[in-house]
Amino acid sequence: MLNISVEDFLDREGLFLRTTAEIDEKIERSRGLSFLRRLKGINAGTRAEVIDHYNLMAQRIEGIPIYDIYASRYRVGTKWALDRLMTDSLSLPNEYVLDVGCGTGTISCLLGLQFPKRRIYGFDFAPSVVEVSRQRAEKNKLKNVKFEAKDLDDLKTRKTYGLVIASGCMSEGDIDDRTFDARLDKLQRLTSPKGKLVIIACADHNPNEMSQKVVEDENQRLVSVSFPYKSADNEAQQVNYMLFEFKS
Ligand SMILES: C[S@@+](CC[C@H](N)C(=O)[O-])C[C@H]1O[C@@H](n2cnc3c(N)ncnc32)[C@H](O)[C@@H]1O
Repeated sequence: MLNISVEDFLDREGLFLRTTAEIDEKIERSRGLSFLRRLKGINAGTRAEVIDHYNLMAQRIEGIPIYDIYASRYRVGTKWALDRLMTDSLSLPNEYVLDVGCGTGTISCLLGLQFPKRRIYGFDFAPSVVEVSRQRAEKNKLKNVKFEAKDLDDLKTRKTYGLVIASGCMSEGDIDDRTFDARLDKLQRLTSPKGKLVIIACADHNPNEMSQKVVEDENQRLVSVSFPYKSADNEAQQVNYMLFEFKS
């Protein structure tokens, strides 16, 4: 039994604006803001450019982080993926959860509320979004959720987690197939035996290309393949969900 539904959480947080018109209107109204003109609307580029991009996305317009306004475009697929994540999170081998590239902390805070006995650790290489995540955890009085500014590619730890989530961050920056494979290897090492790894990729992150890569992975690490979601009102809102359970 869950403490709060995904939809209620997203609504309560004011995270996902309901209508495309509302999103467009907010983006339009914010065009006059000089910092927004620097936003390229891309997540490719050098590492430094991607970090800069997300640091800008942490700034707020009428109280809402810009990242959350843009993420609202995928609200239907996101809700679908997070509902799945809640179900997959019900049974885990231990209480430790890792949220890689946590952004503004939505997933970490949702899991923190849902599972008060679990310890959630979220990190992101853009310090300003980490600050937004901390504010979100504080507002929700979450003591079991911690955030840090860190780069996945530099992460050195032997700790393992019952659940590892990488949502929207596997194809960011200047990455080629080798980087992708290295990231997947690293996420596997971070996942406990009998633990779960969930990779979520939405339309901006070439979900089909990524799913194809993991399906073709010669180590056959993927146990349950993604279920591509396409929103009825907008095909571009596709979200893929990839669940990995590693053979020991
Ligand atoms: C599209 S956002 C997704 C945010 C969040 N996971 C969500 O689903 O709402 C991608 C995030 O991953 C972060 N990121 C990308 N590559 C990273 C890396 N190598 N190490 C840490 N964070 C990374 C970015 O800074 C950004 O906040």
